[in-house]
Amino acid sequence: MSIRHCLLSYSAILGLGGSFAHADTAQLVPAYPLYCQGPLTTSAPSGRETTTHFVWASTGAGAAAPKAGQCAWADRASRGSEIINGGNVICDFSSSMKSVAANTYVEVGVMRDPQVNDCMHLFRYVGATHPPFSAVPALEPFTRRSVANLSAAEIASLRKGVQVMMSRPVTDPTSYAFQANIHGTSANPTDPAESASWNNCEHGSFFFTAWHRMYLYYFDRILRAAAGDPDLALPYWNWQDPAQYALPTPFRSPANASNSLYIAAPNRPAALDAGAALLDASVTNSSAADADTGFETGGTLTGFGFGGGTSAPAQFNTPYGDLETQPHNIVHSTLGGLMSDPITAAQDPIFWLHHAQVDRLWNRWIQEGGGRADSTDAAWLNTKFTFYDEAQHPVYLTGQEIVDTVGQLNYRFDDDPAFHKEEREKEVHGAAAERTAANQEFKTLATSTQTLTELGAKPARFDVPLAAPARDEMRSFAAAPAKRVFLRIDDVHTDKPPGFYYAVYLNPPDPNKIEANSPGFVGNFSLFSMRTHPAHGETPAATHGFSAQFDVTRLVRSSPSLENATVVLVPRGLVNSDGQQLPLEGQNVGVIGAVRFVTTQ
Ligand code: C2O
Repeated sequence: MSIRHCLLSYSAILGLGGSFAHADTAQLVPAYPLYCQGPLTTSAPSGRETTTHFVWASTGAGAAAPKAGQCAWADRASRGSEIINGGNVICDFSSSMKSVAANTYVEVGVMRDPQVNDCMHLFRYVGATHPPFSAVPALEPFTRRSVANLSAAEIASLRKGVQVMMSRPVTDPTSYAFQANIHGTSANPTDPAESASWNNCEHGSFFFTAWHRMYLYYFDRILRAAAGDPDLALPYWNWQDPAQYALPTPFRSPANASNSLYIAAPNRPAALDAGAALLDASVTNSSAADADTGFETGGTLTGFGFGGGTSAPAQFNTPYGDLETQPHNIVHSTLGGLMSDPITAAQDPIFWLHHAQVDRLWNRWIQEGGGRADSTDAAWLNTKFTFYDEAQHPVYLTGQEIVDTVGQLNYRFDDDPAFHKEEREKEVHGAAAERTAANQEFKTLATSTQTLTELGAKPARFDVPLAAPARDEMRSFAAAPAKRVFLRIDDVHTDKPPGFYYAVYLNPPDPNKIEANSPGFVGNFSLFSMRTHPAHGETPAATHGFSAQFDVTRLVRSSPSLENATVVLVPRGLVNSDGQQLPLEGQNVGVIGAVRFVTTQ
């Protein structure tokens, strides 16, 4: 890491003290650097907590060289009352804090924790250091690396963290089971904390990216503390690299209970565990989402933008954004087993690496520039989502507190280009002005003759008669470049999302024989998160089910005949090393109410 980068991330960290420290924020995230001189004695753990008492050095010149038993902020500044309070304590729930011998120095990242008597909660054990101390300390962010590049020792640490979390009882918010239940569960909560925390995943809305970033952020901290490894950071699975289309080896080998990352069939397809079943580019590509320049609107795939729609138009429960639609949902469905259903997905440890990759793609998208910017909608910025930290405290974050992973959450990705925060802010503000109204309404042009079509592991066909005036209206689009036509899959219900997805085709040359490269491909459709679940925040209104939509403007414009439309959904899933589809299983996996063509008003 370059000095320049350190400087930037440190100023970003300091900036937080002012702009984000609302009085009611339970706990803030980034690690402030603190230098201490020994002797400092760390207590034996009481529960999971150790304590280390120290004395604050005075500010100014004194702080540049903390004396024996003293600590000072790296920038020599005072942050309120802590400097004058004399004695203080570093509380640590991660067992990383070590006793510091006389005449030695240590650098740690801490944050005042109002939930534990304002102790200095350890976030980062940096380690031994020596004077003179830089006023611009190198407190490097955690780096999320590709799982393919981790050493055997790093994999062992990851396994240990997961195994320790799995060994904790579900009543412990830092247990693996509790954390997975935050995403979804069919288990009944036994107390108010569980009822408030479980089944909270945000899908089918523009909170998708932000909520999952927050969720992973706390999981990462809990995991690091559980592993007792101050350097552990959640890795990501780069399933867009053709060399990594198979489930990462550490998750399937050894294939026994000694490996906390391994899940046996049927909770994962056996062929996936065997390394014989692969994802492919049609599942993992994010080209439509990458091409978007709007967060909430104008998406090239769904029309709702990269991140999802602000609010749902009437008759539309779930304005899935493009990143969520493809690759996120399609990867879930293709992996099958626990991963194919939000109620169980986080029970498979690969969930966290899948989402670290989705999070990385979000960062990538912002870094791409060209007006790409996060939402500036007040609800997106300010809605609080509650989680638990490694000290078992309830904590919350809002959208505006998580948009800068380095400055606000103290992590980066191994292939992040170093980018300048100030430049990005300029872009954020520039792009906001050009944003169009998010609340677009749709007008139905035509509806399929079939109603309530049952879905399974075979193609489903819908015929949509295009009588005048719908046909004339659709034809007139060639002359009205601002108009768009969407194919909408409506009133979708499932009780158990299947381990495959559907490739959707409009007017394929031969509806009975569709190949991967047949003309008329519209997009991939997944039943992931279309489950009807009463405890789930996204349960559709009683009158209609979930919907997904795809922009078909270009296909309609280039269509020679518009008398009728045929829409075919072809089930697809894992492939073998020759790219051939593996057999799919599933009957009555869900229903589709109708297929419609709709247009923007
Ligand atoms: Cu909340 Cu990938 O799911």
